[in-house]
Amino acid sequence: MTDRQEARTVVVESTAEEATQLVAKLFESIICEAAAARGACHLALAGGTTPHRLYQYLAAKGASGRVPWDGAWVFFGDERDVPHDHVESNYGMTQRTLLDHVPIPPSRIHPMPADADDLAAAAAAYERTIRTFVPAGPDGVPQFDLILLGMGGDGHVASLFPSIEPAAEEGKLVQACFVPVLGRHRMTFTFTLINAARNVILLVTGSDKADAVAGVLGDDEAAKRRLPGAAVVPKDGKLFMVLDAPAASRAGLKSS
Ligand code: 6PG
Repeated sequence: MTDRQEARTVVVESTAEEATQLVAKLFESIICEAAAARGACHLALAGGTTPHRLYQYLAAKGASGRVPWDGAWVFFGDERDVPHDHVESNYGMTQRTLLDHVPIPPSRIHPMPADADDLAAAAAAYERTIRTFVPAGPDGVPQFDLILLGMGGDGHVASLFPSIEPAAEEGKLVQACFVPVLGRHRMTFTFTLINAARNVILLVTGSDKADAVAGVLGDDEAAKRRLPGAAVVPKDGKLFMVLDAPAASRAGLKSS
């Protein structure tokens, strides 16, 4: 089932595997289009567990040589406050599942330093790196070709949790934050940077996300203000929300 509202496409697949395979196809077509049109593709990858299978799938197909990974620049939408070799590191997970298996020059892979002592300074430095390597869009904000996001059961995306004050952004593209519900620090893209992207893919699977998905897709504005996922509204780009049936089960959507 596909629901098109303005630049938002919602697709429901029966299973997580089918949703993952659809996202892999979207991923590859966006990389090929960017490489053909602009000679490079600027990507921001997601952490968590949902993308594991996607990255493994892309790595397996990457061996085919059909996707111009050598033109890719890789950044991270958020990171935990751990070293990159820590089991919880988003960078470490993407390195094991994807980055070690596709021909992206190491100089074009930019892990987020979320375990730095001065997290605010590290976030500002990461923002400068993005501004250096990611071309700006029409409003002067660096414009990623593709930002991949997951979503938590509370509707958080990247490390933008319901407790994070949007005002804290103040035009920032990357921010350090303390997440009370986790009792941990994080580094994350802000909505300003996310919504400047050409393409945002929100891959959400599992029945534990069903309430958040229903809220994001619903029309209760008060509920949506409590769901960061509802604030992913690309200004000029496209949003692909790819769900499996369990995640879509309370949003009144049927799988294709
Ligand atoms: C992280 C992710 C986070 C994730 C959601 C969903 O650092 O954990 O960036 O935003 O996408 O928490 O996580 P799962 O995919 O594990 O459900």
